Amino acid sequence: MKKPARKPVKQVQSAAHRARTSAVAAAPVSVVILAAGQGKRMNSSLPKVLQPLAGKPLLQHVLDTASQLAPAALHVVYGHGGDAVRATCTDPAIHWSLQAEQRGTGHALLQAMPGIPDTHQVLVLYGDVPLLRADTLRELVALAAGQLSLLTVNLADPTGYGRVLRDARGRVRSIVEQKDATAAQRRVREANTGVMVLPAKPLKQWLAALRSDNAQGEYYLTDVIAMAVKQKMRVAPLVAGSEFEVMGVNDKLQLAQLEAALRAQLAADAMRAGATLADPARFDQRGRLTLGRDVFIDANVLFEGHVELGDRVRVGPNCVLRDMKVGADTVIHPNCVLEKSSIGSHCSVGPFARLRPNARLEDHVHIGNFVEVKNSVVGKGSKANHLTYLGDADIGEKVNVGAGTICCNYDGVNKSRTVIEDGAFIGSGAMLVAPVTVQAGATIGAGSTITKDAPAGKLTLARSRQFTLEGWQRPVKKPR
Ligand code: UD1
Ligand code: CA
Repeated sequence: MKKPARKPVKQVQSAAHRARTSAVAAAPVSVVILAAGQGKRMNSSLPKVLQPLAGKPLLQHVLDTASQLAPAALHVVYGHGGDAVRATCTDPAIHWSLQAEQRGTGHALLQAMPGIPDTHQVLVLYGDVPLLRADTLRELVALAAGQLSLLTVNLADPTGYGRVLRDARGRVRSIVEQKDATAAQRRVREANTGVMVLPAKPLKQWLAALRSDNAQGEYYLTDVIAMAVKQKMRVAPLVAGSEFEVMGVNDKLQLAQLEAALRAQLAADAMRAGATLADPARFDQRGRLTLGRDVFIDANVLFEGHVELGDRVRVGPNCVLRDMKVGADTVIHPNCVLEKSSIGSHCSVGPFARLRPNARLEDHVHIGNFVEVKNSVVGKGSKANHLTYLGDADIGEKVNVGAGTICCNYDGVNKSRTVIEDGAFIGSGAMLVAPVTVQAGATIGAGSTITKDAPAGKLTLARSRQFTLEGWQRPVKKPR
């Protein structure tokens, strides 16, 4: 079928708007993330910007959001714990600038400026403000339009923040830090988030002109706002819609608050996508979750990495799923730990099952309690319902693995594979010493230790015959 030709959207724009948008197109964006602070209040040997939020370092959240803008360049100003930071965030596109001594946010930004062309706009971000949305930043960049823009937030309690001072007409004039503010200025509830967009060329001059004659003896980036205003430049404010989006992390308490906020947001996303959550407050997503229709997730389930759940999948309480793919109509019973594996459709897994990396369960497979599967394929319709280790095994279709079966895959030096062909029946308590093959339709007697291939369609036993010793008596304790 031919696609109907799309009607061109009529563009009705003011001259000012056109000028603004063309200015945006003309100025590439250099992002600078300030991340040199020590984070003393974390009381941790891990640098603040590497503390994990939803399983990912704070700085990585900021880097990921910044990359969504496809900036011309990405700079990180680092200091404390620099080696660890650079070893963790390894994107080769990052330009690293060392701020050896922490002399303030203005001084920090100055370290990155030599690498930024005069024609760029500079978007300043912070390594400890992780939940900013890319859409907000896009809006902020568009607002700057070659001049300045500033992200602010109205706070019920702005204690500790820099305050945004506006004139009678609502135009931003300057920022004053809490410690330098008068009592009247401290009553202002509009706080500086620190996030701003500035033109590189004048910014270099402003930063060079900063002075540290303030309450903290630091070079404040915030002082450039008044400098720009003095030069008749426009500072466009954008007021953030949510406090969490702009919240910085200074201690473990704030980290937990952001974690809870993010968790609630991700739970809401999952429910909007159609999932039923037994308790949204006990839903933990630390990565990416792809959901089919009518998925049910019980309480205390933890998702890490990328997890994909097919239509009508049910996940019981207290499960951990990390980098998993689960097919439609599969039921995961309570207390399973499932990692880097795939499960087909109509399977039943758990309770208390463990999938280790590279397990592949095909459709209609049953894996029961205390069964561990690693680096193995379990074919369609096969079952291992109790107390079993399937490691390095290739299991065909419609195989029944009895309770307590172990694939002895390791001789202390090398790993070997066990092959169980279609329709085989493994009696309880069998030891399958790899490399070994149980051929199609074979039956293995309970308690056998199988060291040689078992032929198709026959019963193989490998255990001593039962006998009873006549006249035997239990030993008795010797008198001392
Ligand atoms: C800063 C702002 C304040 C704003 C607040 C928002 C200034 C002077 N003040 O204050 O107006 O309300 O953020 O949270 O900018 N950093 C460096 N090198 C330094 C100093 C800081 O890299 O020498 C980094 C820190 O790692 C951190 C960020 O800059 O990511 C902010 O530093 P911080 O000391 O927390 O600034 P605030 O005093 O909170
Ligand atoms: Ca701060």
